[in-house]
Amino acid sequence: MTQEAELIKVAPAPNGLPQTLPTKPERRLPSSDISISEAVVEDLPRIVEGLYASWPPQSWEKNEPLALRPPTEAIRHERFVRRLRPSFRYPRIRWIVAKHIPTGEIIGCAAWTAPGNPVHNFFRKTAVDFYGWRDQYNCSDEEFDEVWSGVNMENWDGGFARNDDVRKDLLGDEPHWYLVFLYTFPEWQGRGVGKLLLNWAIDQADATDPVTPMYLESAPSARGVYMHCGFVPQGEHNFLRRGPAIVRELKAEEGKEDAKAAPVNIEAVGAN
Ligand SMILES: CC(C)(COP(=O)(O)OP(=O)(O)OC[C@H]1O[C@@H](n2cnc3c(N)ncnc32)[C@H](O)[C@@H]1OP(=O)(O)O)[C@@H](O)C(=O)NCCC(=O)NCCS
Repeated sequence: MTQEAELIKVAPAPNGLPQTLPTKPERRLPSSDISISEAVVEDLPRIVEGLYASWPPQSWEKNEPLALRPPTEAIRHERFVRRLRPSFRYPRIRWIVAKHIPTGEIIGCAAWTAPGNPVHNFFRKTAVDFYGWRDQYNCSDEEFDEVWSGVNMENWDGGFARNDDVRKDLLGDEPHWYLVFLYTFPEWQGRGVGKLLLNWAIDQADATDPVTPMYLESAPSARGVYMHCGFVPQGEHNFLRRGPAIVRELKAEEGKEDAKAAPVNIEAVGAN
């Protein structure tokens, strides 16, 4: 049984979400119960279900304000599926799912962009033109507008665009793995699933010579997971990994209201 990781203490998240904690050995799912594989487009409804279930409703209200919501949740989910579907045909966008083998259920998901992909988050509406996907929606302009009508563009595209600018400043054109999102369904969290989804790309990044950099933006509550996996804080909420490293907090930030990753009481040392 894998040992329990050493606790990395990070500041409480401003939205009140508890920090992730090291996975308890007795809670860990046996590796024979989990498969990690590339998703198929038919998995999208379940993937979208997980996106809505794994982040708090308040964070969705910012991006999909209640006043703009369609009449039913089913329509809301279907629209999100349609917005994401074209990305499944794009080879540098990699959708990875964790399945619980005994039930066949998808219990977690990660979306990665592979090295060489340009810095433009495919969740943005502007990705439709950037990646040339408009005709894949296979619908009229009115329907297309409807698919996006529940989204607050300033928050959604604006937020992703700001993150893209920061990433571009840091990495320029250097090829890198980018974690678009990662989640484990709430009822399956803390059982080793997220780490396996990260390892899918980490193993590939570390297998090149030199190692391929990896980049992500982290929710405040998940920073312990990424630091445990060797990602080093760069700024407010962005993290960079250049091969295996031990990253640990030297001084706890307990009691701080501000959960920014900026105070870098972090040591990145050697290789694991
Ligand atoms: C973040 C999230 C994906 C983690 O998934 P999970 O399946 O619960 O994670 P795991 O059980 O695999 O744990 C991840 C690893 O980080 C380690 N870890 C987690 N918190 C840690 C901490 N504070 N200190 C040290 N290690 C920590 C675990 O021990 C495990 O490593 P190990 O397998 O080597 O022991 C999950 O909590 C989630 O979906 N949260 C909601 C959505 C979200 O915030 N996503 C991330 C947005 S950037």
